[in-house]
Amino acid sequence: MRSPVNPVNWLKSEWQPEWEAHLKAYYGESQEPIDLEGDRYLRRSVLPHISNLSEHFNRLESDGKDQGISKYWKKSSNNSNQLAAYASFFSPQNAMRVAAVLHEMRTHGLADSLGENINILDMGAGTGAATLGAHLAFLGSGVNLCSTLLESNQQALKLGQSFLNRVAPNLEIKTKHQSLENVSALTQLGFERRDAMDLWISSFFINELHWSAADCADILLRHWKRTLKPNGIAVFVEPALQVQSRRLLELREALIQTGEVQILRPCLDNRPCGALVAPRDWCHERISWWRPKVVMKLDALTKLDHKELAFTYLVLKLKPKGKVLSTLDRGEYSPLGRMISEVKDQKNALSGYACFSDAKKYVRFSNPSDDTLNRGHIVEVTEGQGSPEAFHAKKWREVYSTESFEES
Ligand SMILES: C[S@@+](CC[C@H](N)C(=O)[O-])C[C@H]1O[C@@H](n2cnc3c(N)ncnc32)[C@H](O)[C@@H]1O
Repeated sequence: MRSPVNPVNWLKSEWQPEWEAHLKAYYGESQEPIDLEGDRYLRRSVLPHISNLSEHFNRLESDGKDQGISKYWKKSSNNSNQLAAYASFFSPQNAMRVAAVLHEMRTHGLADSLGENINILDMGAGTGAATLGAHLAFLGSGVNLCSTLLESNQQALKLGQSFLNRVAPNLEIKTKHQSLENVSALTQLGFERRDAMDLWISSFFINELHWSAADCADILLRHWKRTLKPNGIAVFVEPALQVQSRRLLELREALIQTGEVQILRPCLDNRPCGALVAPRDWCHERISWWRPKVVMKLDALTKLDHKELAFTYLVLKLKPKGKVLSTLDRGEYSPLGRMISEVKDQKNALSGYACFSDAKKYVRFSNPSDDTLNRGHIVEVTEGQGSPEAFHAKKWREVYSTESFEES
């Protein structure tokens, strides 16, 4: 997937000074002096929360510790430090992930139908990372955004809203302080017809809910039918970990089973999920960016590595209403596949896993013109043969590639 230039640059150079100034103004003198580059501040006030939160995010569903972050929020005696730590480390990452997904939609023409005034619902908004990502993805496009942040933690909501007001004064923000404790809460979520959404986004949220895939599909569909405009689009961004990623893939299958959704990305249609065929497989994307300094420092202190950002994502629309056509859907292409693994460069051929409409295949691509083929790229195969385990693409070309960034 392409890492969009504007968001990468903004997050690299503008985000941290703005965020630090905002934290200082927001929390005032009552807190320990905030210094996002100071070892002492990071070690004392940020690091313990990052370590705990990372452990929490990396949990296994089966290890009995599977509680959503909303429960985790309540465990700290210093909620403001915890929120500031979350937002200093995880928010720019999730903003970048969401910006990259929306950038792909824009590049593929999938955002055209959303129009010039886009109403967003940011579910489980936390401190507003997904809305920031949307703002960055549409930066300079002339599109006006209005985002409603729905979140159960009021402090997160306020911190996020005030930061977004600071860095994106033209972005209209509304908030809904609400906890979706059960499925009925979502169906009862009140929206006026005139407030219907163009873009429904949830970032690192669905895996917090613990609803079965079938329940979640059912309830989301009912919710979207009331709240999404005919051309509206829903975007999910979730962790790249096996368990959480598979949960999103299972939700995808359950939604397809209803016959009421059209998958737009990363899968190029409603093809059966190639990753769900094997019980331990999963599917994720990986993008490059320039880490803000505080993320780099915290990575070094925690021995984590966010030079690249991994995630699982899904973009869909309701069918058959409305028309959302990508630039790849003009019917002029031979079978298109999406690269879903790293690509090995061996003996004048490239090889890796790609998802085609009939199956996930291990493909050997002959005669590559260059070695840029990578995870997330879309390829057209005009001549090929073989089984899914060993497919030989003799004539092929890249339809959609990537830009990468070297950290400086
Ligand atoms: C992992 S955070 C992600 C926040 C943000 N979307 C991001 O990408 O950084 C999940 C958020 O969902 C909120 N949340 C979890 N369960 C919720 C529920 N049942 N209703 C409303 N919000 C919830 C949590 O309070 C938390 O802020």
